[in-house]
Amino acid sequence: MLDAATIRQQFPIFAHYPRLAYLDNAATTQKPKSVIDTIANFYEKGNANIHRGVYELAVRATQQYEAVRQKVAGLINAPKPETIVYTTGTTAGINLVASSFLEPRLQPGDEVVISYMEHHANLIPWQMACKRNGAKLRVIPMNKDGVLDMKAYEAMLSPRTRMLALVHVSNTLGTINPVEEMIALARQRGIPVLADGAQSIAHFPVDVQAMDADFFVFSGHKMFGPTGVGILYGKEEHLAAMPPYQFGGDMIRNVTFEDTAFAEAPQRFEAGTANIAGVIGLGAAADFLQTLDKTKVQQHLKMLALAAREALARIDGLRIIGNAENATAIVSFVLEGVHPHDVATFLAEEQIAVRAGHHCTQPIMDFFGIAGTTRASFSIYNELAEVERLAGSLRDIQKFFLF
Ligand SMILES: Cc1ncc(COP(=O)(O)O)c(C=O)c1O
Repeated sequence: MLDAATIRQQFPIFAHYPRLAYLDNAATTQKPKSVIDTIANFYEKGNANIHRGVYELAVRATQQYEAVRQKVAGLINAPKPETIVYTTGTTAGINLVASSFLEPRLQPGDEVVISYMEHHANLIPWQMACKRNGAKLRVIPMNKDGVLDMKAYEAMLSPRTRMLALVHVSNTLGTINPVEEMIALARQRGIPVLADGAQSIAHFPVDVQAMDADFFVFSGHKMFGPTGVGILYGKEEHLAAMPPYQFGGDMIRNVTFEDTAFAEAPQRFEAGTANIAGVIGLGAAADFLQTLDKTKVQQHLKMLALAAREALARIDGLRIIGNAENATAIVSFVLEGVHPHDVATFLAEEQIAVRAGHHCTQPIMDFFGIAGTTRASFSIYNELAEVERLAGSLRDIQKFFLF
């Protein structure tokens, strides 16, 4: 079993908040000391801008920054460090692909396929690209358990489909989508695929080559790294063919008033001064993830997921939203007669941190006919006792509000 108590000790926040049951990991994870120290050390002992300077600090900062590409490539089994583009997060990666990869090839009457359970970040960029180009957004339906309809998906793929954009793990329902199978179906028809790994990256090992995704995006802050930095993995041939998304310093080979020759990928997509400390911090987060026993992490999260679902299912008047068999430790629910924000506020009093609202997935809320849910999302430092505290407090809330 994963020793969650020992892992917890590596996260300084819990020394400051010993009673904190932090169940908001789908929003952002806490940071281990190694990540915090790496960022502090960079500013204290290593700060310089990258790529241009020839003095020791600048050379070292550049080396540290570039070395993270290899670490991240190792984490997701990308074939080369050059396939790793630094972004500001999942959202930025998706926008980059929608603008730079999809839009130039989108014609009126073309189609882009997404699923019903996309985060707004993996919905709006495609919707806007479709609107601008007279293309149609098609949505893979799901059932009441929060499972995608594979037959409908397959039937939806057509010679007009230009892209599939699919969430790997739903941040609201916890559903783990069968991305390999879905990508294989798209691949047979020559349809490129972006997989949104914002949630999956910290829950189980990701292998972009086995998955055969054309693009895979995630955020540093949901995998124990800092905010404001993320990763776009792209197949080499795609990145090489894509025009830059933003223009400025650090992404060029030669500039005159008449024209500009751009740098190769990935630099071509990294205009301006990067979040250098953030990237280096993300490297420390990748190192941290690599130190964990992946099998034990999965067992632990599975255990928490099952325990939470069982404990909540025993509460009368509580409805779990999303009951996929293949789900991870993200559990959304509504408590009959109590607004999700009241649930979250009451839990906050008990030092249980959850999130209430639509979780940037309004279509899911519309599907279930609700305004929002309360969501408990777990990570490696959570323990069974926190599931029990959550269930106990939910019973107290019911007593307080309903009796
Ligand atoms: C599934 C999913 N996609 C995309 C995002 C957007 O991530 P970010 O806000 O870090 O860009 C999130 C964040 O909650 C998410 O859970």
